Amino acid sequence: MSKIGPIGVFDSGYGGLTVLSEIVKQLPEYDYLYLGDNARAPYGTRSFEVVYEYTLEAVKELFSRGCELVVIACNTSSAKALRTIQQNDLPQIDSHKRVLGVIRPSAEVIGDLTKTGHVGILATEGTVKSQSYLIELQKFSPSTKVVQHACPMWVPLIENNRHESEAGKLFIQEDIQQLLDKDPKIDVIVLACTHYPILKQYIETIIPSSIQVLSQGKIVAEKLSDYLKRHHELEKTCSKNGEIHFLTTENSLDFDRKASMFFGKTVVSEHIKF
Ligand code: DGL
Repeated sequence: MSKIGPIGVFDSGYGGLTVLSEIVKQLPEYDYLYLGDNARAPYGTRSFEVVYEYTLEAVKELFSRGCELVVIACNTSSAKALRTIQQNDLPQIDSHKRVLGVIRPSAEVIGDLTKTGHVGILATEGTVKSQSYLIELQKFSPSTKVVQHACPMWVPLIENNRHESEAGKLFIQEDIQQLLDKDPKIDVIVLACTHYPILKQYIETIIPSSIQVLSQGKIVAEKLSDYLKRHHELEKTCSKNGEIHFLTTENSLDFDRKASMFFGKTVVSEHIKF
């Protein structure tokens, strides 16, 4: 008999909460278990091996707490660990469990949004170096020209609540300018790090209105909804009481204070170690 449990949602820290909030809006009936590995964030500058090891640990933790399906709501982990977990680890852990990421769902729709055929990707160093967006977009929209730019300062600025300071805004302006200098024809900028939606409003004030800024939350939520409709056996294993629990590897009071900014609602978390 299949087990029943919450849908797991994982990120290195707070960013995945921007995805979870959209998932909950679209699929409020399910239960969710969010895990932020805040004690080891940011992942963006870490090596392939380390991101893979940390992500696998987190996924196993969510499985051990009853999740049959885990969404990796982190581009860096999706870029560096998802494929290996899906292909090598899942068959050994439990071939009925599933792990999904955020890059493929985004790549499926990006090509349809651009009129000029030129798209800019803003992401962590790890995501940019992995070339995952280039590889995935090549599959779904081979004619789209993609330019990437890494913003290594953005996650630390956001995590430390310094993104609205004058210095923080200067970093953001500089990175946006560098991206647009690489390709002035860009008409879609993808916020390809789940922390970045916090900056969306500000970014929209410093770019021409002809450029669309895309957050992933809604897209990932829509694709998850489709996925659950197509995978009835898995859907039946997702419990439905409309409850959300939050876990963090850092201090839970610190987590709760900042998490509400990303989730848009009060968050009460539990500290865990693994
Ligand atoms: N939120 C993660 C992402 O989407 C990155 C944050 C980090 O560097 O840990 O890539």
